[in-house]
Amino acid sequence: MRMWLKPFVDLDGLRLLDRGTDALVFLERGGTVIKVPRLDSNYSPLHEARVLLRLQYTSRRRLAPRVFSYNPYYLRMERIACPSVDQLLEQGHMDRRSVCLMLEAALELDRLGIDHGEVARPHKHVRICGEDVVFIDFGRASTRRRPRNFTSLASFVLTHSHVLWKGLENRVWSSGGELLGILRNYKKGDPGQAYAFLEAIGCPLPEKESGPGG
Ligand SMILES: Nc1ncnc2c1ncn2[C@@H]1O[C@H](COP(=O)(O)OP(=O)(O)O)[C@@H](O)[C@H]1O
Ligand SMILES: [Mg+2]
Repeated sequence: MRMWLKPFVDLDGLRLLDRGTDALVFLERGGTVIKVPRLDSNYSPLHEARVLLRLQYTSRRRLAPRVFSYNPYYLRMERIACPSVDQLLEQGHMDRRSVCLMLEAALELDRLGIDHGEVARPHKHVRICGEDVVFIDFGRASTRRRPRNFTSLASFVLTHSHVLWKGLENRVWSSGGELLGILRNYKKGDPGQAYAFLEAIGCPLPEKESGPGG
């Protein structure tokens, strides 16, 4: 197996960077990455590319890797080398700032009508790049499902409050379920509840997106 794999992954300067559930991701010499479907998966590079391009053209934020090229066989995109939630948790660096930025970014994805589909477990899929939060792996994303990015990430924050910043766990306990009620109302369709949630856990309020002329 090794004998077969080694020449394959070194071919044309490609290096295997990581494996996902649906695809293999290779690093190219120039620093870009190529995502290739695993033989046993339904992963569609075309689908992921379309979602990424939609994001690229509709958001002023950098929320996802830039797409360079794609076809039915692979997707070539920007490599995101920033630390993942997993790495930050491991180093004890998942602080208030990162958590708040991450929730705001999820809110923006909701606003754009894109459901990532795998942010309930943000460990590998959410990267903190300075002031930007970049989501990777839109392979199972949908523009048809109702977006649940914010509620998924917020639930992660509530269940991991003990390993996030000091004082958060106390806020969560003393809220007496109020935070869950806020999330429920957001889910029912009241977007303002997201800001109530951010405020209640101690995030500085982001600037609300203003509509045309606003
Ligand atoms: N744009 C990227 N930049 C850096 N690493 C990436 C990028 N895309 C994927 N990876 C790496 O490859 C892994 C698998 O990619 P992912 O898109 O999650 O595949 P799958 O759809 O199979 O789950 C990721 O966990 C990450 O480590
Ligand atoms: Mg993945």
